[in-house]
Amino acid sequence: MNNMNVPSDGMAQFLSDVYGEEGAQGIVNNLSFLFGGFVVTLEGVVIAANEAFLKLVEYPKEELYGMKVLDLVAPAERADLERLSFDLVDHYELQLMTKSSNLKNVLVAPRIFYFGNRKYRLAEFIDNTELLKLQGAMIENYKSTSMALIHALEYRDPYTKGHMSRTENIAVKIAELMGLDNKTIGSVSLGASLHDIGKISVPIEILTKPCKLESHEWAFIKKHSEVGCQILQETNFDESVKNIVLLHHEHDDGSGYPFGLKGRDIPIEAAIVSVADSLDAIAGIRPYRRAYSFSEAIEKMEKVAHEYQCEVLRAARHLVETDRLAAQAFGDR
Ligand SMILES: [Fe+2]
Ligand SMILES: [Fe+2]
Repeated sequence: MNNMNVPSDGMAQFLSDVYGEEGAQGIVNNLSFLFGGFVVTLEGVVIAANEAFLKLVEYPKEELYGMKVLDLVAPAERADLERLSFDLVDHYELQLMTKSSNLKNVLVAPRIFYFGNRKYRLAEFIDNTELLKLQGAMIENYKSTSMALIHALEYRDPYTKGHMSRTENIAVKIAELMGLDNKTIGSVSLGASLHDIGKISVPIEILTKPCKLESHEWAFIKKHSEVGCQILQETNFDESVKNIVLLHHEHDDGSGYPFGLKGRDIPIEAAIVSVADSLDAIAGIRPYRRAYSFSEAIEKMEKVAHEYQCEVLRAARHLVETDRLAAQAFGDR
């Protein structure tokens, strides 16, 4: 069967003529009613969709068929989607734009299928919008509860005031730049906002000492990541959040603490918070030294680049070079 000359606008009809119920429409109709699904040509033209997808995007069949798939995607995400290699991913997150311009967060599982020697894309969608709203509300809830802990720490040590929220801001920007998924970005945000919470156990005279610390004083400071994790142990925080608190001083080369983990044994969330933490700590004023600019801070970090995961450090440099941390305020200086 040679179908190479069939025009894409007649493809839906063509497939159902030759495939009957197994044509493109038959294929999407057989998807679970929970999943939206559509078939597009390689040129990105929609040729079939099931009821769940029509409901999701609020288009009638007559309007949807023949539309360019990019017109269904939120404008801010179109360039990313065009760059995506569909043959290599098994799922991705996306914002769809409905006919009434509402944005819907969806999880997409793309598949390729062949009819004759033509290739098509079938995509299944789950509407994540409500789930993400719920996750966002839960995270806000966790954060407001943890603010009490953070404030308790900041009252004791004015030099840590704002450090955790600035670290959170930098860490989230790095995670976004690295293209991590929303769940991971949520963990990075929460973990960064709490990462030094264990410092509540460090004597105030050590925290605020205006000169170099003795080794026994360092030993106290170095306990803060384990203490922080213990503080969170009885909470419902996700394990990845507790691990950020526990592992944010691990170094890529194994020279960090508390375990001396190396490379990929350090979760990416903790590796990101480690870079964001150093960037804010070096750029911020301390009892014993002046503050540095973000450019100076990155240069200092690059001299010990072996301590950081290289792609995380690269993302941080990009943020600094493109001035995306310019609004970062050190209001407590
Ligand atoms: Fe820390
Ligand atoms: Fe810190």
